Amino acid sequence: MSTIAEEINKRRTFAIISHPDAGKTTLTEKFLLYGGAINLAGSVKGKATARHAVSDWMEIEKERGISVTSSVLQFNYGGYCINILDTPGHQDFSEDTYRTLMAADSAVMVIDASKGVEAQTRKLFKVCGMRGIPIFTFINKMDRDANDTFELLDEIEKELGIATCPVNWPIGSGKRFKGIYDRHENHVLTYSDTQKGTREGETTVISMEDEAGLLENIGDEALSTLRDEIDLLDGASAEFDLDEVRSGKLTPVFFGSALTNFGVEIFLQNFLKMATTPLPRISQGEPVSPVENAFSAFVFKIQANMNKAHRDRVAFMRICSGRFDAAEEVKHVQGGKVMRLSQPQQIMADERRILSEAYAGDIIGVFDPGIFSIGDTVCAPRDNICYEGIPTFAPEHFARVRQMDTMKRKQFIKGVNQIAQEGAIQIFQEFNTGMEEIIVGVVGVLQFDVLKYRLENEYNVEIKLEPLPYEYIRWIENKEEVDMTKLTGTSDMKKIQDLKGNPLLLFVNQWSIGMTLDRNKGLVLSEFGRA
Ligand code: G4P
Repeated sequence: MSTIAEEINKRRTFAIISHPDAGKTTLTEKFLLYGGAINLAGSVKGKATARHAVSDWMEIEKERGISVTSSVLQFNYGGYCINILDTPGHQDFSEDTYRTLMAADSAVMVIDASKGVEAQTRKLFKVCGMRGIPIFTFINKMDRDANDTFELLDEIEKELGIATCPVNWPIGSGKRFKGIYDRHENHVLTYSDTQKGTREGETTVISMEDEAGLLENIGDEALSTLRDEIDLLDGASAEFDLDEVRSGKLTPVFFGSALTNFGVEIFLQNFLKMATTPLPRISQGEPVSPVENAFSAFVFKIQANMNKAHRDRVAFMRICSGRFDAAEEVKHVQGGKVMRLSQPQQIMADERRILSEAYAGDIIGVFDPGIFSIGDTVCAPRDNICYEGIPTFAPEHFARVRQMDTMKRKQFIKGVNQIAQEGAIQIFQEFNTGMEEIIVGVVGVLQFDVLKYRLENEYNVEIKLEPLPYEYIRWIENKEEVDMTKLTGTSDMKKIQDLKGNPLLLFVNQWSIGMTLDRNKGLVLSEFGRA
């Protein structure tokens, strides 16, 4: 029997971030293969589901009773217990994608070697950067023609503002991909693509001292290029520094090909060694030790059931300290109630498993009768923990909501408010007016369809959405010092407020943001809303 501390210390909880198609699903499948969690790569989840048309997606939600896009995968490997949090992408990219990152202790960034840093990676990276969590880079698809390796690293440094430290180095790419050079071990691992989908095989390890072996396996030309690149690299790249990695200032970079399962296990092994155990979270300004404290957790996501027959909600919690025991009572801090969490479960890709215990680092889903809000804390009844809330992320799409039947005003307001409470949408009003006009903001456009669908199906309210041209929203950090009525921006800027009366500004482009800042000295704008 292991102790609570041992259980917690073997946990590694991370999210995988990438732009769609970079290979996140494929890499996850290979990880699971190493953990023995699945027998065959490809059975993790129907990744094609992410590409379904909206109507299909709704059908899938209904059939399964829970979003197919939300999953946490847990598996054991090499003495570690690993939790991988899926960050929904593609069409279902939403605020939940960002919130998932709040529950992770580190992130794996997958980059397509022929595409470099792409839009979605950039957005997700920003959120990781805000938290200063460690980021590990896997440059994927080396079996295809790749961009120049130095240029790829340069792009990461410039675009994302993080130093890079290659742990290994690719030898060619595409048809001429010969393998990787391990800088620490000073040896080469040769590539073979004959082992698709199975454990890494056919890889020969050749020391850099073994000239004949290298010539035979990677050839004269590739070897001489490699030697030149190593010289350049040793002079140019950042020194490896674990503290810098753990504070998110330096990203270790690995190369490989998830599809042909090359470089994946080395990445996994190094990553597990470098990644942190569950990190302490801040409660009322003080860090809460995951090991020394009793059970505590915070809600980072609420998932409404799309199935009318079971209109329940699932609250996803990240356990921050101690051991969760399903038989024991906990305190819901914001609600001021002591209770037992109902139907605690681990939400896997395609199944829910009822849990009796879990530890700091783990994610659990519990039945929510409508009491939890995003950011809420639960803890042992005698403790007084209250975790910092989760920020509100900037929506990028806005629409005015018009109700078709004004007689149903009450249901409409109730529906919109409930859906907003789950965090699927954000609602705003015109500045200094009543609730008459509602403006909805979403991170991913699919949420507009979800809103319309749910209002019709669950609240019997028909709405019309009129898209607005704004793409940028900014919270006013120093709202106490700003006189909103006097604030002047560009003619296309719009003043709005949230339901708590906090003032916000909507902009069509970044230029307008700059102009507004210029015209209002002392104004401080933020991309994240304070919870
Ligand atoms: P995502 O979750 O990040 O969206 O990416 P996913 O793993 O679904 O991969 C996107 C496509 O890229 C898939 O091809 C996948 O097979 C391919 N891929 C992933 N890793 C590698 C790699 O290392 N090398 C190469 N050459 N391809 C890779 P697809 O044609 O869209 O899907 P499928 O028909 O192969 O399943």
